[in-house]
Order: sequence, then structure tokens, then C-alpha cells
Amino acid sequence: MSSERPRTTVATLRRKKDRSEKIVMLSAYDALFAAIIESVGVDIILVGDSVNTVLCGEESTHSATMDQMVYHTRIVRRGAPNTFVVFDMPFMSYQVTAEEAVQNAGRGIKETGANAVKIEGGSPRIATVQAIVDAGIAVMAHLGFTPQSVDQLGGYRVQGRGDGANKLVEDAKRLEDAGAFALVLELVPTDVAGQVTDALSIPTIGIGSGINCDGQVLVLHDLLGLNEEFQPRFLKRYASLADDVRAALTEFANEVRSGTFPDDAHSYE
Ligand code: KIV
Repeated sequence: MSSERPRTTVATLRRKKDRSEKIVMLSAYDALFAAIIESVGVDIILVGDSVNTVLCGEESTHSATMDQMVYHTRIVRRGAPNTFVVFDMPFMSYQVTAEEAVQNAGRGIKETGANAVKIEGGSPRIATVQAIVDAGIAVMAHLGFTPQSVDQLGGYRVQGRGDGANKLVEDAKRLEDAGAFALVLELVPTDVAGQVTDALSIPTIGIGSGINCDGQVLVLHDLLGLNEEFQPRFLKRYASLADDVRAALTEFANEVRSGTFPDDAHSYE
């Protein structure tokens, strides 16, 4: 497989942290966008279980399945052969037993070509992270707001305020000790994310967690302005593609109805 730039590895991610070089990660779900992402040199593509809400219109990530995640990760890998790809383990694929988690993580790697898996949660997940790492699979951890626990957490809200800060730092250290190579921090106050980042040797990648993280992740469709309903404070939109799509479709419909498309330039002799 040829490559213009070296593929990111867990070692290069760690080096980026040591050199204070920010890590860029995007959640994406298909080959077409994955190829565009690779062409701009993003460090990591996470094939997030957010696919279930963002693309499939579900209320939560709960109904995401292993088959669905395998399908989307495989097509992302096809579009971005030289990018570090993370397979997001869906709800109940790793919570029951460590053995089942290892089997599902193994499937996530073997059937997709992903470089790592991601699992959500702190202290209850330590043994699971350890078991997956012991199987030779790189694990990205995820603390703060963990979407698979949305109902237990009482909704989409900031985590780690007050007494929660120490617990977050402790859980993060335990995940690092268990072998996680990076940690996603979702919806955590900026100063608490900074405390976690300072306490770890592995990189933190924030979403809604402020500037002190070692990297940042956003969902591609959110930052492109395609997912219009989702408007949390942390989300910066870098484009308004839903507006562009509407304008293009309106023009197409008008031209079809008025008989101006297709013209000679778009027809065969
Ligand atoms: O599923 C996902 O896309 C995620 C990111 C938002 C971190 O977990």
C-alpha cells in the first residue's frame, strides 16, 4: 500500500502530545468523505456509533449493532487506506463480559482493517480495556459524557463538575494504566479536561471539553452544517452544507420543471 505521508500510529500520537502538537480527529462513516478527510491529512478517523443518530435518524446510539459498525468501518477504510481508523464498539458489544468484548473487538479489527477500537466508560471498564489490550488490540477510552449511558447520566449534559473532577482524573489514570493509548473527553469543563490531560502520558482528545486537550474531535456532518438539528454550544460550524444542498436541489427541480435541464451540453448526439 503506497502512502505520501506516514500513517499515524499510537507511537506518533504519543509523540504529538510530548511535542504539544495538536491531534485532529473526525467522526465519519463512508468511503467518499473518508477519502476527502485523508486528502487533507487528518490524524484519526473515528467511525463513531454516532452514525446511528447522525445518518440513521435514531434518537440514541443504543440500537447501533456490530454489523452496522463493521459495514461503516470497512467502507471508511476503503476510502482512507492510509489514515489511522478507530472502530467504535456499539452498546452491549463490550459491557457483558470481557471475553465477549475481546471477541467483538477482534471482529471489529479483523473484518474492517481498523487500527484500534474505542469503548466508553471508566472504572467498570478497566478489566475490559486490559483484556482487549492483552489481546493485542489498541484501545481508545472515552470519559465524561458517554452517549451510550445517556439515560443513566440524565441527558446530554456536562460531566466532571465539582466532586466529579477527581473521579474523572482517577478513572483516566486507571484507563491509562490498563493500556489505553488515548482518551476521548466529551463535555467536560475546560479546567477539568486540563487536569486530566496533565495527569496522563497518553493524549486526550476533546469534544466540548475546551482548549486544554491534546487534540479535538468533531462529527464531520456536524461541522459541515449538514446535521442542522444538533446545535450544542461547543459545536463550531465550518460550512453550511445543508443550505448549499437545498439551493442545489431547488435549482435542479426548477430546471427540470422549466425544461432547461438537460441542455445540449449535458446531452449526447
Ligand atoms: O460516536 C462518536 O462519533 C463519538 C465521538 C463524538 C467522540 O463517540
